[in-house]
Amino acid sequence: MVIGQRHKKAIIIFLIVFSCGSTLFFHVVLKMGIVVTHIYYVPIILASLWLKKSFLIPVFLSLFLTGSHILLRSDVEFQNDLLRAGMFVAVYAIILKIKEKVESSEKELRFAESKLNQVFSLSKDALLMLNREMSIIKINASAQELLGLAEKEVIGRQCSEVFDNSSVCGSERCPVRRILAGATYVELETKIGNERKKKNIPCKVTVIPYWEADGNRSGVILSFKDLTAHKKYKKRLKQYQKKLQSLSSELILAEEKERRRIAAELHDQIGHNLALAQNKIGMMQSQSAAHIKADQFDDVSELIKGTIHTVRSLTFKLSPPILYEFGLGPALKWLAEKFNREWGISCDFSCSMRPGVVDKEIKILLFKVLHELFVNVIKHAKTKITRLGITQKRKYVYIEFIDNGIGFDASQLEHTIVRKQGFGLFNIRERINYIGGSFRIKSHPDRGTAVFISTPINHRKRG
Ligand SMILES: Nc1ncnc2c1ncn2[C@@H]1O[C@H](COP(=O)(O)OP(=O)(O)OP(=O)(O)O)[C@@H](O)[C@H]1O
Ligand SMILES: [Mg+2]
Repeated sequence: MVIGQRHKKAIIIFLIVFSCGSTLFFHVVLKMGIVVTHIYYVPIILASLWLKKSFLIPVFLSLFLTGSHILLRSDVEFQNDLLRAGMFVAVYAIILKIKEKVESSEKELRFAESKLNQVFSLSKDALLMLNREMSIIKINASAQELLGLAEKEVIGRQCSEVFDNSSVCGSERCPVRRILAGATYVELETKIGNERKKKNIPCKVTVIPYWEADGNRSGVILSFKDLTAHKKYKKRLKQYQKKLQSLSSELILAEEKERRRIAAELHDQIGHNLALAQNKIGMMQSQSAAHIKADQFDDVSELIKGTIHTVRSLTFKLSPPILYEFGLGPALKWLAEKFNREWGISCDFSCSMRPGVVDKEIKILLFKVLHELFVNVIKHAKTKITRLGITQKRKYVYIEFIDNGIGFDASQLEHTIVRKQGFGLFNIRERINYIGGSFRIKSHPDRGTAVFISTPINHRKRG
């Protein structure tokens, strides 16, 4: 029962009046020292516990006891009443001290409990507390979310009723049993059923005991970590590793294919031309000078011209000198013109960047990237209209390459790569990321394709 402040005061006043009345009765009527001075302790103790300015009460009662003794009875046992009066103050002081100590311990306990409650309820991990009988006594918001159950649906229920996990509950694997049997820490991976979403969520469960003040193990705390995202990342990482593996073998194959193509070009064009030229010169050597016709020289000259042309175009294919002599802007313009000449692709070209600021590796990479993007337009876009913009701001080059072709679902790009259907764009993204740049592709069916690239002008590898 809670006693109100007014009632407390009334009780104390009544006890004081009673103590003082009994004092007067003993001193005046019976003419003797008061014997039942213990009565005084009751209002003193209650006042020290209940009132704020409680020191007035022991002081008043001490003064009353000694004063009434002096005024009304002067003969015997004064020292007894004096001693009793002193005890009132002493008892009051001791009780006050104990009260202060208890209050400060209570405060600390409340503070620790509120901190614990805060940590418990704010924890991102789902937390549950069970008592020794394995019924749930506390659950935080994350655990309610994980289980798809409200607090009132869970509190007081048996752990096995809520989890109903046949592979764990009631078996040797049950982490709660193991902890209650003496283990200090148990961790396991299992699936937790979510009532609301009607699905199983993969979780890592960690179980530890908690103790009462007397050192007895009085229950367990279960912590659940949702592994869904972790598993998803692991799966994506595996896919990514697979992609990289296929990319690397694809690159080796592509390199080999390119070598064979160059060897074939050297053989079929340069080799053939030189052999024919040699043959023709041999024929001319076997003829007398008077019989050599002018068109025989023309034939040899044509063959040499053709060879020079092939060598030049091979050189450009392997490594366009324009890239080194005039820089990235002019080289990309040349590339756009080349695709226009050879494939009829028109390109609205704009470039605003200082010459000679981009590192050699970045220049070569961006040249190859644009080559791949032009080839993609020819292969997939079904359009001949493109726009290429190059700008430089501070330490970055920004490239925008847009076509108004049939477009595609760019969100499916990842799957395309997984299915091993195309490496061009994946390769670009990886290589641009590697040098600390960014690659973004925006495309929807029938709405064209836009590629946005930014790279630092200086080469820096990523960790
Ligand atoms: N400009 C574009 N217009 C329409 N679709 C495109 C365009 N660029 C790419 N795509 C689509 O994206 C896919 C992936 O392109 P990516 O360059 O990675 O591979 P690919 O060109 O098919 O093969 P690879 O480049 O390995 O020879 C293509 O198969 C195509 O469907
Ligand atoms: Mg491609």
